[in-house]
Amino acid sequence: VRIGILGGTGKEGQGLALRWASQGVEVLLGSRDPAKAERIAEKLNIESGWKAVRGMENREVAAEADAVVSALPASGHREALNGLVEELRDKLLIVATVVWPPRLAERPSAAEEVQDIVSDTTQVVAAFQTVSALSLRALDKEVDDDVLVLGDCTEARQLAVNLIRRAGLRGVEAGPLGHTRIIEAMTRVLIEVNKNYGIRSAGLRITGLENKDCGETDSCLE
Ligand SMILES: NC(=O)c1ccc[n+]([C@@H]2O[C@H](COP(=O)([O-])OP(=O)(O)OC[C@H]3O[C@@H](n4cnc5c(N)ncnc54)[C@H](OP(=O)(O)O)[C@@H]3O)[C@@H](O)[C@H]2O)c1
Repeated sequence: VRIGILGGTGKEGQGLALRWASQGVEVLLGSRDPAKAERIAEKLNIESGWKAVRGMENREVAAEADAVVSALPASGHREALNGLVEELRDKLLIVATVVWPPRLAERPSAAEEVQDIVSDTTQVVAAFQTVSALSLRALDKEVDDDVLVLGDCTEARQLAVNLIRRAGLRGVEAGPLGHTRIIEAMTRVLIEVNKNYGIRSAGLRITGLENKDCGETDSCLE
């Protein structure tokens, strides 16, 4: 499977690329500037020890990848995704974007905004909102955060969980896309915890799942 990351040159995008690449998964790293993407891809290949990352323009990423992660900032994601509706058709789109500062729960999350932009045949799920770039980048440590996956289609959520497992992380199906606003609001709590304890990578883990296989379903992307 080929994973594309829009805004992949940023902190979160690079962290995600490293996790997938270090498991040997092919990653297409997107940017508005292909030369910048190529430069950062090369750096990540050296860091991961795999030649799994290729840098290119966001449009090419959306067109070539089997599944796409949006790690674009909320300030530019609507405009960028408006221009990629065709390329994203029939694909899984995992949205990591958080509206910052998070809105109150009655306002739409970034993932819900994306759902309104893309075509009906693009399956949108939200994931990674609570997983810090710092945890993802520290390849010498396992990420013990769970990746909460929200979406309205069970199959899309399960596909995302499977792809997340391919990055060495545990994805947990956590409800419909509309609940992403709750998760965005939680990022505010995590930032307070970071401040209180002088850390930068507070995250979430769901207990009680010890005997459950998260995402052991067959995926048509694998
Ligand atoms: N950082 C974290 O720990 C973390 C954790 C969870 C979720 N998130 C969420 O993930 C998203 C990305 O976070 P980040 O920290 O990686 O952000 P970032 O480093 O500020 O930005 C990501 C990339 O987006 C591109 N970009 C910037 N402005 C843009 C615009 N107006 N239009 C299109 N592309 C633009 C840039 O790439 P090019 O210049 O190469 O195009 C940039 O490298 C945010 O919504 C954030 O809330 C972040």
